[in-house]
Amino acid sequence: MRMPVWSRRLLILIILSFASLQVLQVYCPGWVCNTTGEFSERDEVLPAPRKRYGKAKVQMQMFNDERHEGISLWNDEEQSPRRDVKVDLNNSDILVFLHIQKTGGTVFGRNMVKSLYDPSTGRNACSCRPEAKRCKCYRPGGGSQEWLFSRFSTGWKCGLHADYTELIHCVDQVMAPKDTRNFPPRRYFYMTLLRDPYRRYLSEFLHVQRGATWKNARHWCGGRFASDGELRQCFQGDTWEGVSLDDFLACPDNLAANRQTRMLADLREVGCYNKSAMSGQDHDRLMLASARANLRKMAFFGIIEHIDDTQILFEATFGLRFAERLNNSYEPRGENFTMTDHQRRKFMEKIALDVELFDYAKLLFRQRVQAVRNSTPNPKRFLGIS
Ligand SMILES: *[C@@H]1O[C@H](CO)[C@@H](O)[C@H](O)[C@H]1NC(C)=O
Ligand SMILES: *[C@@H]1O[C@H](CO)[C@@H](O)[C@H](O)[C@H]1NC(C)=O
Ligand SMILES: *[C@@H]1O[C@H](CO)[C@@H](O)[C@H](O)[C@H]1NC(C)=O
Ligand SMILES: *[C@@H]1O[C@H](CO)[C@@H](O)[C@H](O)[C@H]1NC(C)=O
Ligand SMILES: *[C@@H]1O[C@H](CO)[C@@H](O)[C@H](O)[C@H]1NC(C)=O
Repeated sequence: MRMPVWSRRLLILIILSFASLQVLQVYCPGWVCNTTGEFSERDEVLPAPRKRYGKAKVQMQMFNDERHEGISLWNDEEQSPRRDVKVDLNNSDILVFLHIQKTGGTVFGRNMVKSLYDPSTGRNACSCRPEAKRCKCYRPGGGSQEWLFSRFSTGWKCGLHADYTELIHCVDQVMAPKDTRNFPPRRYFYMTLLRDPYRRYLSEFLHVQRGATWKNARHWCGGRFASDGELRQCFQGDTWEGVSLDDFLACPDNLAANRQTRMLADLREVGCYNKSAMSGQDHDRLMLASARANLRKMAFFGIIEHIDDTQILFEATFGLRFAERLNNSYEPRGENFTMTDHQRRKFMEKIALDVELFDYAKLLFRQRVQAVRNSTPNPKRFLGIS
């Protein structure tokens, strides 16, 4: 029996509306680019349920567009500033702060929103209401478009401490203005901070021992979240408070290991969190190579142990100034930490890739700082200590 025409039309209409819902869902599911979602500072410390986002869904690749991977401000060969690209915060440019845990990013991030100003106008780069958790970093020309993607401006819109793999698939979605008419395509400039891997790992251990977790981090890669099997939890219960160094070192999927390398790499190149995708050796080699390449492409990275040069480089790169000289008196805790030879050996294994990355980063950093110093008569004037 044939269906009457109207009911066939109705059926098609229903199918079409379901299909378009699906497309929307796939294109930008709430759990990938939740624009209302935000994590408070306390989320780092307070327990949260482990799998809040439900079953991981496979979805199509959202972007293949190079634009989202950010634009370099450095000539690749000699690491001198490019003359053909200038950051224009008044136009469509966005700084994306990739904030790796325990690298001094919280203090730096707060200083960015509180004390950056435009030296040509003297105006603050962001506006902060007292007591507000976050500040608004609107473009200097007015309007409601923001130029800084970071914890203290936009919030963790792409997930708590989102890594490179997550950011390049998410930032453009959450930073898209409601009305895209009259705006040139947005350009992204990535920035991050690095820290000596030994101190960073120790600092993370002590932080976790005090009860912090980053359970809300998403670990999204290749269209889905890492599964429970891929990232086995290190501990039962809400936190790992009071964990011993031995237990911390022994957990196989502890993300503290080589965190800087992992968070800067494009994890799709190593099969995401799937350990059977390739041998451990290949995995490490490829992940390190990817992290290096991405670091090299970054518009800016700082090294927290070299805070003055970090400040000089930042200010010269983006044409903004901090109102005061930055500190690097981050966390004296752990300075006197002692460990056995056995512990130290395990410890060094856990940070082996980060140590290589950091050595590479220091060279690159020195080249960039030198290039900036050569082209700036008195770089120390940035620090107010000329
Ligand atoms: C977005 O995040 C908020 C806060 O984390 C949550 O309450 C809300 O359900 C989320 N929305 C979606 C669509 O996941
Ligand atoms: C930004 O654009 C506005 C409007 O076009 C202009 O008035 C303002 O001077 C510009 N600011 C900067 C810093 O270029
Ligand atoms: C992990 O990789 C292996 C080898 O490529 C593959 O057979 C397996 O299906 C993958 N697992 C998942 C969960 O994708
Ligand atoms: C530097 O440290 C001092 C003392 O701890 C503090 O008062 C000051 O605000 C800090 N400055 C910045 C830029 O963090
Ligand atoms: C580390 O040890 C030195 C020398 O014993 C001491 O002066 C310093 O205060 C200690 N630092 C911390 C953070 O305990």
